[in-house]
Order: sequence, then C-alpha cells, then structure tokens
Amino acid sequence: METIKHSEIKTIEVHPTQKTTALAAAHYIVHFVKNNPHATITYFTGVTPIPIYQEIARQVFKKGVNFRHTKAFHLDEYYPCSPQKPFSFVGYLQERVFIPFGIQKENTFPMNGLAPHAEKEADRYNDLVLQHPSDLMLLGIGPGSHIGFNESGASFESKTHLSNLSSETITRDQKRFGPDVPHQALTQGIKNILSAKTILLTVYGKERGEYLKPALWEKIDPRYPASALRLVGHKVTLLIDQEAAHIIQNRP
Ligand code: GLP
Repeated sequence: METIKHSEIKTIEVHPTQKTTALAAAHYIVHFVKNNPHATITYFTGVTPIPIYQEIARQVFKKGVNFRHTKAFHLDEYYPCSPQKPFSFVGYLQERVFIPFGIQKENTFPMNGLAPHAEKEADRYNDLVLQHPSDLMLLGIGPGSHIGFNESGASFESKTHLSNLSSETITRDQKRFGPDVPHQALTQGIKNILSAKTILLTVYGKERGEYLKPALWEKIDPRYPASALRLVGHKVTLLIDQEAAHIIQNRP
C-alpha cells in the first residue's frame, strides 16, 4: 500500500482497486468500533459505501465485531422524501447498516424527510448532533467536491440545514433514480462535519478523483466544500484507489 504526502491531511492511503479500498475502509471502521464499542458514527450513503457496509455486515454476522451499542446518525437525506422511496438515504441506511449491523433502534437517529417544516427538522437534527458529537464521521465525495449535501459555496460555518442541490448533482441523481428525485436535501453542515473527532473519507474511481483533486490542491475555499477538511486535516484519513490517485497526482 502506497501513501501520498499532503501538508494538511494526516493520512492518504492508496489501495490497488475499489474493492481493496472498500475493504480497508471496512477494516478501519471495525477496528474503530472494537476500540470504541459505544462510538457515535455518522454514515454516508451512495454507491461508494455499498461494499464497505457489506463487508462490515459480514463481519458482524460472523460475530467478529459488535455494533449494538454504537449510535448511528445520518449525514443527509433528500427532502421531501419518504423512507420508502428508492433514493431515500433513511431507507438505505435502515437496510444496509442499522439492521445488518444490529444497532439497537433507540441508538439510531433518522432524519425525517417528511417533516412538514424542513428548517425545523434541520434544527432538531442539529440539536441532536450537538448532544451526540460524532466520534467517527464517514464521508464520500460528490459533484462539485460536495461532502454530505453541502454543495459548492456552502459556508464552512453551516450547521444542519436544507440544501438546494446543484444542477450537476441533480443530473447525477436523475441518471440514477429518474425524474422524481428531489432537488433539495437535509444535510449536516460543514461545521458539524468538522466537529467530528475522527473523519474517514473514501474516494474511488476517476470521476470522484476529479471531484477530490481541487479540494486537495486548490485554495481552501467554500467553492470546494471538501477543501474544508484540510482545516482539520490532523484528524482526517483519506482512502483512495489507484484510479483516483492517478487523477489527483496529476497536479494542476
Ligand atoms: C451523495 C451523498 C454524499 C456522498 C455521495 C457519494 O451525494 N450526499 O454524502 O458522499 O453521494 O457518492 P457516490 O454515490 O458516487 O459514492
């Protein structure tokens, strides 16, 4: 396994393939929970974490690790959105994380994508996050270097809020889920993300490498939301595959 040097990010590990990168992320999380059985964890969603969560579920099934006493938080959820919708992150985490990891129901904190007032729901969730600061924040990256659904331009001071999705994000999501996908989402803000004790960012593939590149090497700026992670780079571990590494090493 190679590493890449970066003046602000503590660790950048390069793994050969998407599969080995996902396995490295799963092992990191399992190790974290073995050391912190009561950890509060914020979970990201999407394509990237599917093999990560599958591997953890396998280890939980084999009784290699116990997530029962961990607390599970959402990073984001579409709005408005019922958990039954195929694109719902609440439905996704319920199916791929909360149930297979055996997390006790009272320790899961779903966002309510059907709340009548989005702002009130965002405030309610923000209060919960402040009461239960994340020990481990799991992140991926999306269009415009977004983290969670903090789109390009989001303030680094932002708390949990309703975000207007960028046209690039909407296009990506419509390709995945069709025309019904909402144009807004609730998301933990950048300030919430930076407050976590430990941050694990997993990025693989060429396209996500393109999203990551300016966030690593351009000026730290709200234009590239993921660049905010460099402000707390001493607590960030970044796992990438060769394909993404190739893109980010090709510096501007
Ligand atoms: C969405 C989520 C992000 C996540 C990203 C992963 O945009 N809001 O929190 O990082 O998906 O993208 P992918 O599905 O390409 O892995």
